[in-house]
Amino acid sequence: MADKYLDLVNTPLPGRLAKALGLPRPSVLRRYTPGEAIATRPVLVAGSGSGADALAEVLLGWDVEVRRHVLPGEKLSAAVVVLDAVAAPADLAGPMLELGQAVKLLVPGGRVVALFRSSADTTDPAEAAARQGIDGAIRSVAHEVRWGATANGIILRGDAATTDPTTLGALRFFLSGKSAYVDGQFVEVSATPAGSIAGLAAATTAEGEGVPDQPLAGRTAVVTGAARGIGAKIAEVLARDGARVVALDVPAAGEQLAQVANRVGGTALQLDITAPDAAARILEHAGQRFGMLDIVVHNAGITRDKLLANMDASRWDSVIAVNIASQLRMNEEFLASPVFSDTGRIISLASTSGIAGNRGQSNYAASKAGVIGMVRAQAAAFDGVGRTINAVAPGFIETDMTAKIPPLTRQVARRLSSLQQGGLPVDVAETIAFLASDAAAGINGQVVRVCGQNLVGA
Ligand code: NAI
Repeated sequence: MADKYLDLVNTPLPGRLAKALGLPRPSVLRRYTPGEAIATRPVLVAGSGSGADALAEVLLGWDVEVRRHVLPGEKLSAAVVVLDAVAAPADLAGPMLELGQAVKLLVPGGRVVALFRSSADTTDPAEAAARQGIDGAIRSVAHEVRWGATANGIILRGDAATTDPTTLGALRFFLSGKSAYVDGQFVEVSATPAGSIAGLAAATTAEGEGVPDQPLAGRTAVVTGAARGIGAKIAEVLARDGARVVALDVPAAGEQLAQVANRVGGTALQLDITAPDAAARILEHAGQRFGMLDIVVHNAGITRDKLLANMDASRWDSVIAVNIASQLRMNEEFLASPVFSDTGRIISLASTSGIAGNRGQSNYAASKAGVIGMVRAQAAAFDGVGRTINAVAPGFIETDMTAKIPPLTRQVARRLSSLQQGGLPVDVAETIAFLASDAAAGINGQVVRVCGQNLVGA
């Protein structure tokens, strides 16, 4: 559903009126267009040390104008602050204050990206305080930046370098229009597994050879719940990126499903994912037609809202069955099958309701928090291998589901994020396509929120 208020405040007179009355003024977000430049203005790489120097070199290879310090009055596309060597909270002042000067110079839709090491990887209290401090500071910057700009962070785990292929993949994602609705978030990056196909393909980006137009070319992806909403958009974006898509949905949605499959040049699979043979049928379909299954997007989901006091067993059970139990069962079978690729990706849809809880959604929140638990636990089995499993947690996304929310509540829900608007299905789809790509080979067991820095459960 269109956000008419957003359209209105982006015209001159209503915009001025909203400003005078102190009303929210959401900006039109900078979203990805194929062939877009990584930056149209210079990019600041703040921070000293070899990690910052090496990263600045890589950006130069991407044909980006790099600045190591703010030049008064010069507009910036992005500010990348490299804080991988901080040892104590006092070390933060220099680069953070420089970042403060940079954010004033960001163009609309500008980007702030911080790179730093995990506080979980040190036992030194001062070092841990400094590292964790960056988390708080960058979340605050995300609240402060305006005109559709965002601030996010890349947390380097173990000995991952600032120029590791996955670090660079994540940086490209955050700098691009693909991350338009990802704000105030952090992804943890481990060193890209050596020798994986993924590592080799992503490495070319470090050498300045650019990113392939179709990073998923030759891959086969299954998207559950693909007949409409977010699932249909995921199918479209994965196909745009070169994947062969198996669009899956219940038989009752067969007509819409066929339309989606035709639109993306894929195949349709009518199937209820709660069926005991669901995984076997997916593997058979992908195996027979394409020889391999590389990407699984567990998108199908349902809500059956009721206060817990009024909840009946059928509402509870159906939500758990579709949203989490089916995935647990299918993942076991995918992992055990030779049809599921050695560099396979599983990406599961969680929800901010699973992080913060939501009135009337105890069953749904249990299932979506369950997805987060599943992804974190299963990641251990994938560690160091070419396969990954991650979750994406959308906030308020403009779909049929959220169009059913009463108008006033919907207006309020839209404004309750730093970006003061709902996201679009494409925002969720772009994040999933990134996690499915080689460039994300070192991202495993993560939950990436696509929520515009929703104020709920931040
Ligand atoms: P939707 O209701 O528009 O689409 C869900 C699709 O899943 C439908 O086509 C439906 O037929 C299919 N489906 C349901 N049960 C199935 C089953 N047993 N087997 C196969 N297919 C089945 O939902 P929407 O809004 O597109 O959401 C997609 C996912 O994103 C869901 O997992 C949802 O929980 C999650 N999500 C959505 C948010 C939003 O704001 N729309 C926010 C947070 C999470």
